[in-house]
Amino acid sequence: MLKLGVLASGRGSNFQAIIDSIESGYLDAEVAVLITDNPDAYAIKRAEKHGIPHLVMLPKEHPSKDAYYEAIAQELKKREVELVILAGFMRVVKKPLIDAYPMRIMNIHPALLPSFPGLHGQRQAVEYGVKVSGCTVHFVDEGVDTGPIIIQAAVPVYDDDTEESLSERILRQEHRIFPYAIKLFAEGRLSVEGRVVRIEGHKKEDFFFTNPPLE
Ligand code: GRF
Repeated sequence: MLKLGVLASGRGSNFQAIIDSIESGYLDAEVAVLITDNPDAYAIKRAEKHGIPHLVMLPKEHPSKDAYYEAIAQELKKREVELVILAGFMRVVKKPLIDAYPMRIMNIHPALLPSFPGLHGQRQAVEYGVKVSGCTVHFVDEGVDTGPIIIQAAVPVYDDDTEESLSERILRQEHRIFPYAIKLFAEGRLSVEGRVVRIEGHKKEDFFFTNPPLE
């Protein structure tokens, strides 16, 4: 069974979607640990409720950013974590962790990358005036939201959308595609060639998420 390590900074609704997918039997995996950089993260409550061990690890307790990510990598390796999930982890992960888990760290971003990387992807989409936005699950490299794309889901952007209304529409898709991407990984169906991720034996269903029916 695939061992996951989840890093989250806040609300943890994507973390919850992953927990629910495991508990329903959709995803054959186990969350070995939740690591957070925020002692007040609601994600901690979710971990406690589901009997998942959690650690609060603060950058200020380490001499450098590299040392912080080295310490996180050690905690993950200690628990034999195979795949690292960034579920609303509000920091740019540094080299020591990326090197410890090459193409083994997944992030979810609330925009259709490569559009609108960085913070506030939903607000950027509303302000730019795009008509379609969405979310992206990608492997993490050393850039900000630049790693190989695993799966995306699109949603419409309406004239009267606000950052909040678009965020909510996108979030519903996040909760679908993140567990799905992890499931593809767990089934050994993902391979990376350059910056292109291929889904082995892909079927029409694998692309459902790229064309969700408009609401
Ligand atoms: C999500 O919008 C995700 O795309 C972004 O941070 C937010 C986390 O939400 N990376 P939650 O903590 O999973 O509820």
